[in-house]
Amino acid sequence: MTPLRQRASWKALEDHYAKIKNIHLRQLFAENPKRGQEMAVEALGIYFDYSKNRVTAETIKLLLNLAEEADLRSRIDSMFKGEKINITENRAVLHVALRAPKDQQIFVDGENVVPKVHAVLDKMSQFADRVRNGDWKGHTGKRIRNVVNIGIGGSDLGPVMAYEALRHYSKRDMVFRFVSNIDGTDIAEATRDLDPEETLFIVSSKTFTTLETLTNARTARDWCLKKLKDDNAVAKHFVAVSTNASEVAKFGIDTANMFEFWDWVGGRYSYDSAIGLSLMIAIGPEHFREMLAGFHAMDEHFRTAPFDKNLPVLLGLIGIWYNNFFGAETVAILPYDHYLGRLSAYLQQLDMESNGKHVDLDGNVVDYQTGPIVWGTPGTNGQHAYYQLIHQGTKLIPCDFIGFCQTLNPIPPHHDLLMANFFAQTEALAFGKTADEVRADGVPDFQVPHRTFEGNHPTNTILLDRLTPEALGKLIALYEHKVFVQGTIWHINSFDQWGVELGKVLANRIIPELQAKDEPKLNHDSSTNTLIQRYRKLR
Ligand code: F6P
Repeated sequence: MTPLRQRASWKALEDHYAKIKNIHLRQLFAENPKRGQEMAVEALGIYFDYSKNRVTAETIKLLLNLAEEADLRSRIDSMFKGEKINITENRAVLHVALRAPKDQQIFVDGENVVPKVHAVLDKMSQFADRVRNGDWKGHTGKRIRNVVNIGIGGSDLGPVMAYEALRHYSKRDMVFRFVSNIDGTDIAEATRDLDPEETLFIVSSKTFTTLETLTNARTARDWCLKKLKDDNAVAKHFVAVSTNASEVAKFGIDTANMFEFWDWVGGRYSYDSAIGLSLMIAIGPEHFREMLAGFHAMDEHFRTAPFDKNLPVLLGLIGIWYNNFFGAETVAILPYDHYLGRLSAYLQQLDMESNGKHVDLDGNVVDYQTGPIVWGTPGTNGQHAYYQLIHQGTKLIPCDFIGFCQTLNPIPPHHDLLMANFFAQTEALAFGKTADEVRADGVPDFQVPHRTFEGNHPTNTILLDRLTPEALGKLIALYEHKVFVQGTIWHINSFDQWGVELGKVLANRIIPELQAKDEPKLNHDSSTNTLIQRYRKLR
């Protein structure tokens, strides 16, 4: 395959960028009064307005050519067919199978995996119902009132994000907590007001070897047994979600109480697998299945819609435009819905662990930028914090604004005020306020430069009707596939994460050095040696 920057479509985009990089959104909107309607796509109830981007119809055409030249279509087909596109780990990439309907067939190594997916979903549903209706009792016969998910990365960020997002649909007489950090404060605070007799721990770990999760799980077991004083209690208060049955058994959890998933599900693509068990207990199996239907609808849209009407493709290509041609380093995700408070943390892992790569699929160091830095918090809080920099700073920060027409908490006038800000921000970012307009307001001359807004700051608007389980599924699948589109263009493996390994290995080397009774012989660099010595002295 021709290297990315030598492809005709890439060169065409470079030439085009040189021509239009200074055009202002004011001009683009003035030239075409219908731009706001023409540069919008509606699919699956999601209205995607990309008109407030620094693009013309020509830009979109050239970006679509880039996608064609990268063979995006056949790469999508390869993923959906279960080909082992995660080449460094020799694995298929089939999170789409997690939400496939029962009658669909998806093969890995000659085996249709869809029946296995549904068998686990059924087992989860039965268990979730038993916990929710009080049939599943703790060791002393009390019903379970608290569920604590222990996991980290993909085994935490997805469940906690989705639990927060769908809290409106959750069982309000139960408590749900999520423990991830190896800092003992996390588990201490999560358990301090809970009664072990009424608490169920879900130990979620794809590998079941992750230091943080196993350490927290052992601490949870000690906490539980301190009160219950009987090892048999573990069977009633601990279940596991994993791909690794032998490690689960080694930990002391009966594998009958294990919910399985498979190596073709990446951790950051896993919250709609059994990793979502805590979420399913919270919102109930029916809502969970509605969420899966939302994921599946977006999968089908991504697989079949023409690229110029394909939401993940457009979102991905527009991201490439800023990342690779304008040199933007970050993307802000700005949901105007308080329930989506953990969305950007979730998308950080999804995007940055997937596309934070510096070699391509052939092992060559890339000579172009790959994955962006992802960040953001829900509006309107950010407006009173960092939006200043987006409006008037020196950096170009493309933003995704995500909002809903209906609120789940109708307390007038809150939602109208929220959405007025939502619309106002994309308008202000795009069009700004010229020096003449500022002067016309009677602003003194010395203040004019400070109060001028250059505008021309790009935004996508993603507008949905209402935050339902189905809508959340669509939204998350939209971003999953956006990451896939970008990874395909950059010709990188979006499905491994070797970059997390070195720190783990070094930490394992340092643990005994911190805990040794006698002064250990340290062989690190002079900085690390001194820091360890100081810690040992003061711990
Ligand atoms: O260290 C990174 C990582 O491997 C993530 O990719 C993963 O989501 C997380 O750790 C947790 O892994 P596990 O589910 O195996 O405990």
